[in-house]
Amino acid sequence: MRAVTYHGTGDFRVDTHPDPGIEHPRDAVIRVTSTAICGSDLHMFDGFIPEMRKGDIIGHEFMGIVEDVGPDAAANGDLKKGDRILIPFTIACGSCLWCRNEEYSLCDESNRDAEKLATLNGQASAGLFGYSHLYGGYDGGQAEYVRVPFADTTHMKVPDGMSDEQVLFLTDIFPTGWQAAVNAEVGSGDTVAIWGAGPVGLFALKSCLLLGADRVFVIDDVPERLALAAQHGGIPIDRSQIKPYDALMDATQGRLPGKVIDAVGLEAHGAGVIDTVHDRVKTATMQMTDRAHALREAILCCSKGGIVSLPGVYAGIVDKFPIGAAFGKALTFRMGQTHVLQHTDVLLDHIREGRIDPTFLITHRGRLADAPDLYETFRDKKDDCIKVVLTP
Ligand SMILES: NC(=O)c1ccc[n+]([C@@H]2O[C@H](COP(=O)([O-])OP(=O)(O)OC[C@H]3O[C@@H](n4cnc5c(N)ncnc54)[C@H](O)[C@@H]3O)[C@@H](O)[C@H]2O)c1
Ligand SMILES: [Zn+2]
Ligand SMILES: [Zn+2]
Repeated sequence: MRAVTYHGTGDFRVDTHPDPGIEHPRDAVIRVTSTAICGSDLHMFDGFIPEMRKGDIIGHEFMGIVEDVGPDAAANGDLKKGDRILIPFTIACGSCLWCRNEEYSLCDESNRDAEKLATLNGQASAGLFGYSHLYGGYDGGQAEYVRVPFADTTHMKVPDGMSDEQVLFLTDIFPTGWQAAVNAEVGSGDTVAIWGAGPVGLFALKSCLLLGADRVFVIDDVPERLALAAQHGGIPIDRSQIKPYDALMDATQGRLPGKVIDAVGLEAHGAGVIDTVHDRVKTATMQMTDRAHALREAILCCSKGGIVSLPGVYAGIVDKFPIGAAFGKALTFRMGQTHVLQHTDVLLDHIREGRIDPTFLITHRGRLADAPDLYETFRDKKDDCIKVVLTP
């Protein structure tokens, strides 16, 4: 089969690999019908995720049709050949303490690299598709076929009559934006500020509005992304024109938003901003792993007693973390990989009942063979690219 394959930083190719098969009674193999490129894939493309190996298959937003199914996945997960299913990017055993609590991204059983990750983080979290040998080293979904481990508890059936594009983002970015809003306890009448108008920031915006927020500011410097945010009910702040802090102070008469969401993560940029220059030097010289400009600014811009929610990925350590501001304003922090299946039923209802059309941000479609070019297009925001969907 053909699959998007890691060869090094900035070097993803479409290679031929052996077709996957059933390796465990709880496995299924699916034929991928649609898969998307995520901002999290860019962290590997840009060399921020350690423990990647040449030959690894990338991709964690995908869906398809069951080709083959192990006996336990068939019996316990009601799965059979021909079923059309979505695969959450977080692999869930379904029975550990965390899975029973619907905190699937913390699963104790699905990460084959648990020991390695635990030496870094103190404890390991769930295995993820196509996300390095710290997260299980599982082959990803930007491929013609994928083996799905723990398939009985790591899938969701697609209701009849729904297109791939209507439901594909339930595998990651829609629940991720939603969890960001839920973690920020967004509710009726709230004022929220979101850093990043990428796919995750845009779904966080839609989620905040679905949860009843009154005003949602969206901060970025990419004009077409800000324009899309405005078209979908957000109040854009172009950080190349005005300091987000000044804009937010002004718009809230000095109160500042009580809920702030960092949907940027570890690759924040900010030309000419002194802490960003330090971050670039320190990450380039391996003295630090993550660039945290958006996070620092979000903390500064959060009102006293507020909540800072981080869907944006952080992978290692940062410095100049304004702990004094966070402490002084008594802020609460919530973060983590998304517990995808915890949210999918409610989000599927929002789609079915027409409260959201998740296709609103798709700008580019291609075949697997186009993936290397489309990675560059997406990363460099060429051709007004916001979200890429591939059909193998
Ligand atoms: N928690 C999870 O489970 C989960 C799931 C999916 C994605 N993510 C993460 O969410 C983040 C966003 O993903 P995406 O797909 O939207 O990526 P993206 O790269 O398309 O979007 C990031 C956006 O942030 C903007 N940006 C960069 N620096 C900024 C700054 N200083 N201030 C404001 N905006 C800035 C960029 O211009 C871009 O539009 C990534 O870190 C990704 O890894 C997390
Ligand atoms: Zn993702
Ligand atoms: Zn589990």
